[in-house]
Amino acid sequence: MSGEDLHQRYVAAVALANEAGALASSYFRDRVRMGTKMKGFQDFVTEADQVVEDLLRRRIAEAFPTDGFLGEEGGGSSNDNLWIVDPIDGTANFARCEPHWAVSVGFVRQGVPEIGVLAMPTLNELFAARRGHGATCNGVPIRVSDVADMQTAAVEIGWSPRRPTASYIGLVAEVMDMGATVKRSASGALGMAWTACGRVDAYLELHINAWDVAAGIVLAREAGAVVNDFFRGDWLADGNPILVATPALAGSLADAMVLDRALLLRSDAH
Ligand code: IPD
Ligand code: CA
Repeated sequence: MSGEDLHQRYVAAVALANEAGALASSYFRDRVRMGTKMKGFQDFVTEADQVVEDLLRRRIAEAFPTDGFLGEEGGGSSNDNLWIVDPIDGTANFARCEPHWAVSVGFVRQGVPEIGVLAMPTLNELFAARRGHGATCNGVPIRVSDVADMQTAAVEIGWSPRRPTASYIGLVAEVMDMGATVKRSASGALGMAWTACGRVDAYLELHINAWDVAAGIVLAREAGAVVNDFFRGDWLADGNPILVATPALAGSLADAMVLDRALLLRSDAH
C-alpha cells in the first residue's frame, strides 16, 4: 500500500469519525432514543452503538471495498488492511448521560497500527494521528507530558469484569504506593488520547480489546508515549493488556503490571 493510499484512509478516517460523532451525539442525553440494554455484567450497549457502527461499516465498504472491518458490536474478521472501530467507547458513561465518551476509528495494516482517530463530540475535540506523521488534537500537535516523578503523576487504570477484582485492586494499590494518584474515567480510548496530550501521564489496563485501543495506540506513540506490544499473540480475538505512558514512567509501571520492560515500544516521534 502506498503512502498516498494511507493518506486517503487517514482523510477518510477523520471525516468518518466526525460524521459518526455527530450521529452518536444525536442520541446523547435522550434516554428513550438511546434504548440502553445490557450485554452482560456491567457491559452496556445502546441503540447509538449499533447505528454508529453500521454507518462506519457501510461508509468504509463503499470507499475501500477490499479492506476488512471489525467493530465492537458486529464483529468482523482479519484482513491485511483492517479497520478497527469502536462506535462508542465509554458506553457506560454515554448511557448515564456522562460526557466522557468517544468514537474510535483505527486502521491496522499487517498487524501494524497506521491510523488512529478519536472524536469526542462533547468537548468538540478530534484527535488524529498517522504513523510517522505526528498526532494532533483539532489540528494542533500534541505531546505526552514530561512527568518523570511518580509522586506528581496521574495514572488512569481501566477496569472491566474480564479480570478478577483482586488483580485490579492490587494494581491500583501498587501504583498508589509508588506515589501516583489513580483515576478511572471509563473510556480506554480516551484514557490513551489523554495520555497523548498530557492530561494524564499513563493509561493502564490488565485486559482490553482491540477496538478500544487500535486508534489510541497510534495517537499515543505519535505523541511520544511508550506503549507495550499489544499486537502480539491472538490480539484480535483475545485482546491483551495495555500500557501507555510517558517514557520516564513506563518501566516502573510495566513492572507493576508484570510486563516485560524489554518488550516496551519506544516512540520514534520527536
Ligand atoms: C470499555 C471502556 C472501559 C475499559 C473497558 C472497555 P466500552 O469499553 O473502554 O474504559 O476499561 O475495558 O471494555 O464498553 O465503553 O465500549
Ligand atoms: Ca469500547
